[in-house]
Amino acid sequence: MSGPLVVMAAGALARLRPMREASLNELVRVGEAGLLGEVIRVEGDVATVQLFEETAGLRLGEPARPTGGPLTAELGPGLAGSVLDGVGRPLEAVARASGAFLQPGAEAATLSREHRWEFRAAIRPGSTVAGGDVLGTVDEKPGLEHRILVPPRAAGRIAALEDGSYTVDEPIGALEDGTELRLAQPWPVRVPRPVAARLRGDRPMVTGQRVFDLLFPVAQGGTVAVPGGFGTGKTVIEQTLAKFAEADVVVYVGCGERGNEMAEVLEEFPALEDPRSGRSIMDRTVLVVNTSNMPVAAREASTYLGMTVAEYYRDMGYRVALLSDSLSRWAEALREIASRLQELPGEEGYPTYLSSRLGALFERAGRCAPLGKPEREGAVTFVAAVSPPGGDFSEPVTQASLRAAGALWALDPALAHQRQFPAVDWEVSYSLYAGPTAAWFADEVGADWPDLRQEILTLLERDRELRDVAGLVGPEALEDGDRLLLQVARLVRELLIGQSAVDPVDAFSPLARTHALAGLLVALRDGARSAIDRGRALESLDLAPAVRALSAVRRAGPDELPARVVEARSAIAALRREGTAGDQPAGGDVTAGEGGA
Ligand SMILES: Nc1ncnc2c1ncn2[C@@H]1O[C@H](COP(=O)(O)OP(=O)(O)O)[C@@H](O)[C@H]1O
Ligand SMILES: [Mg+2]
Repeated sequence: MSGPLVVMAAGALARLRPMREASLNELVRVGEAGLLGEVIRVEGDVATVQLFEETAGLRLGEPARPTGGPLTAELGPGLAGSVLDGVGRPLEAVARASGAFLQPGAEAATLSREHRWEFRAAIRPGSTVAGGDVLGTVDEKPGLEHRILVPPRAAGRIAALEDGSYTVDEPIGALEDGTELRLAQPWPVRVPRPVAARLRGDRPMVTGQRVFDLLFPVAQGGTVAVPGGFGTGKTVIEQTLAKFAEADVVVYVGCGERGNEMAEVLEEFPALEDPRSGRSIMDRTVLVVNTSNMPVAAREASTYLGMTVAEYYRDMGYRVALLSDSLSRWAEALREIASRLQELPGEEGYPTYLSSRLGALFERAGRCAPLGKPEREGAVTFVAAVSPPGGDFSEPVTQASLRAAGALWALDPALAHQRQFPAVDWEVSYSLYAGPTAAWFADEVGADWPDLRQEILTLLERDRELRDVAGLVGPEALEDGDRLLLQVARLVRELLIGQSAVDPVDAFSPLARTHALAGLLVALRDGARSAIDRGRALESLDLAPAVRALSAVRRAGPDELPARVVEARSAIAALRREGTAGDQPAGGDVTAGEGGA
């Protein structure tokens, strides 16, 4: 009996024969080099395999070795801080420097075999456990406790479980039926990890970005599509979220768009300081990276690997942000594989199952009660950048993402060109989480939060209409009230929505600052409006002191914020007083120069 041989090799595809026992999604080592691949079709005794690695040099007649199982993630302590390729192999420092990744066929376990972890048991031998129960903990990184869970499908009475120092290969204990318990557990990446219950997404994942938190919030466990053409700020948004979003753990799946983009990520991430701890952001981050020279199949796998790692930390009871940059690479991988298989193509060559595949992926996000005791809550919040070719949102991947996601942050090249960042098109963007999270914002930040949100959205909408009119008839033809609105809307764009990712103070806007700015802008509009209603001309109103005070609010740290808000309120009150009786005659001639009270 001889093993299977390579009978066809083309690009990232190989056919193996005889493979009578092969099952779909089974992992196979192909060729002398042992290239990693996955069975994607079985016909008779021929298995078609997509390879996760560069296939140059693979020849007909080389042997192949089925592994008997699907592509599996190794989940355990040591994930945090690691940098993995699409199939879970750690990228070494060497690879980081040279840009050259692992040798094809290299076997490299996700987790260190040598590292010893101090395990503290949380339950005693004799207890009965079931899937998801917390057996104990190890300190994975400063500030990140790794909870060791009973694997989802295991259950029984604990025969042994002991505190101590263990590698991921050594048993920490056993069940009475002989099942060994370890610090790490395997999980097939394409299968969602089970949960006890799904919970409503009614709390926000605070991002510190005003345009998102105020106008288009994302819920913990929510999903967001972020489509945008080249240079519109997708990568900046994902990295800003990695740094500031309210998440205990970040899983970042990057597919290089430009040549050395991933090399940049590998350099920049470790240097990013976690604003909460002051340590490297890598202490609570797992990076899954693909370079553009890796075969597409690995990019497709990397998204599932990232999702599986995210679910695993969710199961511990953490809030996880899964950030994908960009999901289009995942979809292109689907397309390439489908075309190699000569499947019937759908729109623009994407397979007809693009939409359902993408929907199934988005469904793995969510807020939930994980399996097991003690009861806890976890969430995977999924923010997926999408790169439509030519910035055309009608293309299939953008459309499928829109249908699957609960929020849309649409990026607009015109805004990016004006350097209005984040370049979120507020006319097209939306969030289905705005309603469900409104009560939380009202309770935690300010009762008027939902109203302010609506005021600002209405103001921006009116601004659009007025700018269209002004474009036709000229701004001087507009009434004072309308011209005031245009001015306030400009301030809203500059001071509220606009936020520089590199500003040392304003890169992160605490909700209190976001709330204060929105409230003050609305108050400014109302104050000036009432002066105008009393007969003052817009030109005669001096908005400058109020605008300066608002800018100071924007730059205020948490300690200074209350004082700056008081100053801004009094500047606005002064504005409102302009035009009161005695200051200017109501309805009279209002060209009175400086016009201060
Ligand atoms: N929030 C922001 N603040 C400041 N600059 C930004 C911001 N977002 C984007 N930019 C600018 O736009 C450039 C392109 O952004 P990038 O995220 O690389 O775009 P994309 O990933 O969509 O191609 C950045 O290098 C930066 O100069
Ligand atoms: Mg980018």
